[in-house]
Amino acid sequence: MDFVDQLKSQVNIVNVIGQYVQLKKASRDRYSGLCPFHKEKTGSFSVSESKQFYHCFGCHVSGDVLKFVMEIEGVSFYEALKGLAERHGIPMPKRSEYADEDSKTRAALMQMHELAQEHFHANLHGSSGEIARAYLAGRGVQPETIEQFGLGYSLPSGRSLLRMFEERQFPAAQMEASGLVGRSQSGGYYDRFRNRLMFPIHNEAGKIIAFGGRALAADENAKYLNSPETPIYRKSYTLYNLHRAKDAIRKEQRAILVEGYMDAIGVSAAGVGAVVASCGTALTAQQIQAIKRHAPNIVVNFDPDAAGSKATEKSIGMLLEEDMKVRIMELDGGLDPDEYCKRRGADAYRQKLDRAKGYFYWLADGARKKYDVHTSEGVVSVLQFLLPAVQRISDRLERSAIASDVASYIGVPASMVLDSFRKSAAERHEKYIELPKTSVRPDERGLIAVLLSNAEGCDGLIEDLTRVETLDRLDTRRILQAIIAVHAAGGRVTFDAVAARLEDNDRRILAEMLFADDPAAEEFGIEWGRKCIERLLGAGERQRYMQLKTRINELERAGKLDEAMRLMQELGRLSRGNSASRRGVQ
Ligand code: UTP
Ligand code: MN
Repeated sequence: MDFVDQLKSQVNIVNVIGQYVQLKKASRDRYSGLCPFHKEKTGSFSVSESKQFYHCFGCHVSGDVLKFVMEIEGVSFYEALKGLAERHGIPMPKRSEYADEDSKTRAALMQMHELAQEHFHANLHGSSGEIARAYLAGRGVQPETIEQFGLGYSLPSGRSLLRMFEERQFPAAQMEASGLVGRSQSGGYYDRFRNRLMFPIHNEAGKIIAFGGRALAADENAKYLNSPETPIYRKSYTLYNLHRAKDAIRKEQRAILVEGYMDAIGVSAAGVGAVVASCGTALTAQQIQAIKRHAPNIVVNFDPDAAGSKATEKSIGMLLEEDMKVRIMELDGGLDPDEYCKRRGADAYRQKLDRAKGYFYWLADGARKKYDVHTSEGVVSVLQFLLPAVQRISDRLERSAIASDVASYIGVPASMVLDSFRKSAAERHEKYIELPKTSVRPDERGLIAVLLSNAEGCDGLIEDLTRVETLDRLDTRRILQAIIAVHAAGGRVTFDAVAARLEDNDRRILAEMLFADDPAAEEFGIEWGRKCIERLLGAGERQRYMQLKTRINELERAGKLDEAMRLMQELGRLSRGNSASRRGVQ
């Protein structure tokens, strides 16, 4: 077994995918959830535990555990392999044949970030760190919070990180690519982050991929300086704190979205762990999808200023677009989430959180302030303003409940609001996926299911299979031939090994039939596979028997009796052989 097979035999695809997608058991061997690779409302995404592969009945992606990690993390094969090995404590072979140039660069960049974090953290606790320690203390950040979030301090000197990288002989090109080191016009290198409070930013797997640096001196031109996009950091895909928050997000089935690093830290320290922040950019669809993989509900808790409410309004649109259930949390006293937790206390914050209202009320509030609802034009304007959001509510009951709330809110009859809602809200049809019925015959299906289970004795079965004369006429011939080829090449017959040799359509047929429940294949295993082969052999012979009979009739009619006689003897041999082989099976 090579390392890839060894790793795959030690990790369970259901657990790995389960860290990114909420899976529930849909049948004996099918776990299902919302597909992370296309937009959907019903769980077409399916994972087979026994065959260790996934398939989406909606967008038809499929693969094994490594392919999943590659796709969801946007990493190379080598990185997926390495990441899985690390997470499962399986030692990687030292010199790896799997690493390509890009992967090596990215691994080096990750290592540089790891070192940088240790460096920043040591600075914070060192003699020059006083200014940063005092700043944190002044903002009430507790020592354990500093440790939990790995906060650090970049020295003002401007070369200390650079020197450390040089000592460890990172090539100049890699230093520049890391975004941690800048290059001046005269060609000299320097630390990008100087005299700043440092916030490590992690990817969902918990690796440091970037930093945010907050100015400590009031005269700095930028309050925050962030890492640029690098081969390991894609801003639009990253959410600050997601790797820590995701367990809580799942457990509580909702995420809290704040604007700033300090907000995420403050809210988390107040005991609300399910909090994430975007990293200084407007919310993106990819960030929302990353949240949605863990929970369908989100509470938006932006700063209570004009910029915050503009950002809130924009986010609502984006979140509804992704079918999230959205509530808005507004804090009084002009306090941002971090300040609120500090000044009013964790309990007050949690109470506010529990009372956060649906986004609709927030919008209606805004509309009411903007238009005069005492005039009929004002009411029409309010309704116009709310309609785009109404159209996005997919649930009819929810829509009419909101209509009557909004009516009393703006002081008009409910029927009026409902009318205007009804006119514009295109009814949405909720779809539930029903697995497509597989058209593959039970014999072929059963056999393939058994062969992909890798049970002992499969080798013999595959050899028998090559003797099935009718193989080229079966619907699943390309799949069966791929199985034979994988086996002949000495590989393990797994979903992905077989799928790699198939065109899209056959790959889809294979995936779909493997999800069709085959209790017999499961229960009787290899025995069942043997029966399936016998039946295929039998079916071949029956077919030949019928062909011979037809041919004999034709010959007789044509008066070619000699040849008819010869075929009749063959027919006799065939039926004797047939009953013998049938006795053999039973
Ligand atoms: P805030 O100014 O609200 O920051 O910006 P904050 O995290 O609450 O920090 P404090 O409480 O003032 O110390 C929100 C987020 O916007 C990004 C950062 O990600 C910040 O956390 N930002 C802000 C920048 O990227 N650059 C800036 O100059 C300012
Ligand atoms: Mn703030």
